[in-house]
Amino acid sequence: MNNAVIIACDFNSKDEVVKFLDKFSRGESLYIKIGMELFYAEGSSIIKEIKDRGHKIFLDLKLHDIPTTVKKAMKVLSNYDIDMVNVHASGTKNMMKAAIEGLTRENGERPLLIAVTQLTSTSEEVMKEDILIDRSIDDVVVSYAKNAKECGLDGVVCSAKEADMVHKHCGNDFLTVTPGIRFTDDEKGDQKRVVTPAMAKEIGSNFIVVGRSITKADNPVEAYNRCCKDFLG
Ligand code: C5P
Repeated sequence: MNNAVIIACDFNSKDEVVKFLDKFSRGESLYIKIGMELFYAEGSSIIKEIKDRGHKIFLDLKLHDIPTTVKKAMKVLSNYDIDMVNVHASGTKNMMKAAIEGLTRENGERPLLIAVTQLTSTSEEVMKEDILIDRSIDDVVVSYAKNAKECGLDGVVCSAKEADMVHKHCGNDFLTVTPGIRFTDDEKGDQKRVVTPAMAKEIGSNFIVVGRSITKADNPVEAYNRCCKDFLG
């Protein structure tokens, strides 16, 4: 499955997640993103809770540390029943190679490993002023994506606006996982580089990650179905 709507379950307790998932029909298989907030609050038991309901999991912990530490942390994560996990590409090629080594299980299998390029909350001005990267966002995203591909990762997290460019440089099989998704009538919140689900489809994004536009909607199931119709339909 190389196209899906991933729901960012940015809640801070299992109870809230369960209440949210209970709104969907039993037997409907969703792709759920567990972020730092939920994982730090509930630990690994939240993975089993969601898996037992038949859903797929993207564990969004965005690892970024020295290669040895990332390798050891990934080895621990390789024991979990997850489908996708990520690191920051800015952690360097050595760190990404170490991440793959740690994540690969003894039988050679592993969850998808994706690299964050630039957060979709970061604008080009902020990247230049705060992190002193004096290049365009596009240059940075393409360069980080090429590094990730060279290290054997499966794809990158980027803005949907950049998905086509990443595919041109890294091939159509290299996955683009794209947060910063909003319906035209939604608040942007802290996101800067946003697009609609329909635009993300047109640009060729593989996975859209949608949080508040679904979780904070008056009717989350309706909002999810609208995303699926616009992105997958
Ligand atoms: O609520 P919203 O749709 O903005 O949520 C987006 C989710 O995607 C959040 O969980 C955020 O941590 C995550 N994310 C992001 N930008 C990235 C990587 C992850 O917004 N580059």
